[in-house]
Amino acid sequence: MNNLIVRTTSLAMSITLSYIEKGDTVVDATCGSGQDTLALSRAVGEEGRVLAFDIQKAAIGQTEKRLRAHGADNVRLILDSFVSMTSYLPENSASAVVFNLGYLPGGDHSITTRAEITLAGLDAALRTIRPGGLVSLVLYDGHENGAEEKKQLLGRAEQLDPALYHVAFVSMLNQSNHPPEILWITKKRNEEE
Ligand SMILES: C[S@@+](CC[C@H](N)C(=O)[O-])C[C@H]1O[C@@H](n2cnc3c(N)ncnc32)[C@H](O)[C@@H]1O
Repeated sequence: MNNLIVRTTSLAMSITLSYIEKGDTVVDATCGSGQDTLALSRAVGEEGRVLAFDIQKAAIGQTEKRLRAHGADNVRLILDSFVSMTSYLPENSASAVVFNLGYLPGGDHSITTRAEITLAGLDAALRTIRPGGLVSLVLYDGHENGAEEKKQLLGRAEQLDPALYHVAFVSMLNQSNHPPEILWITKKRNEEE
C-alpha cells in the first residue's frame, strides 16, 4: 500500500486525480520537469487534454522530453505565465488546475514563483475550474519569497466566499526543514452546501 501522507507531492497528486475523469481538460500551471504533467496526461487519457504552462524554455524542454519518452501526445505546452491561462481555455472548463510553486529543481533558483503573480494565477485558476473542480497548490515556505507567497495565498484563500468555495490546507506538522504544504480549493456545485 502506498503510504500517502509521507510525500506531499504524491498526496497532492493523488487527491487531484480523484477529481479527474478520462476526457477532461486540466491545467498544469507550472510544468517544471513535467512529472505532474505526465500524471495529468495519463489521467485524462487520449480524449482529454492538458495545458501545461511554464515561463522557462528549459522547463518546457524538459517536459517535452519526458512526454515524448512516454508517448504522451495530449498535452499542449505553453511558454507563458499561468496568469494568462484564461486566454487559452474557457472559464469553468477544467476539472483541475495544479500549481507546484517555487523554482525548477536543478535550474536557475532566481526564477521562482512570486506572491503577487501567484495570487493573480490563483484568481485565474478559480475562474478556469468548473464547479466541482479543484485547484491544488504545493507551497514551499523554506526559500526566499516562499514564506511571503504562503502568507498571501492563505490570506486570500481564507477570504474566499464559503458559499462558492471550500478550502483545505495540509501541513506536515512534525517534519523538519520546511516540508512542502498543500492548499486545495474546490468550486462548489449548486447542490453542495
Ligand atoms: C517547482 S517547479 C515545478 C515542478 C513541476 N511541477 C514538476 O513536476 O517537475 C516550479 C516551476 O514554476 C515555474 N514558474 C515560475 N513562475 C511562473 C509563472 N508565472 N507561470 C508559469 N510557470 C512559472 C518555474 O519556471 C518552475 O519551472
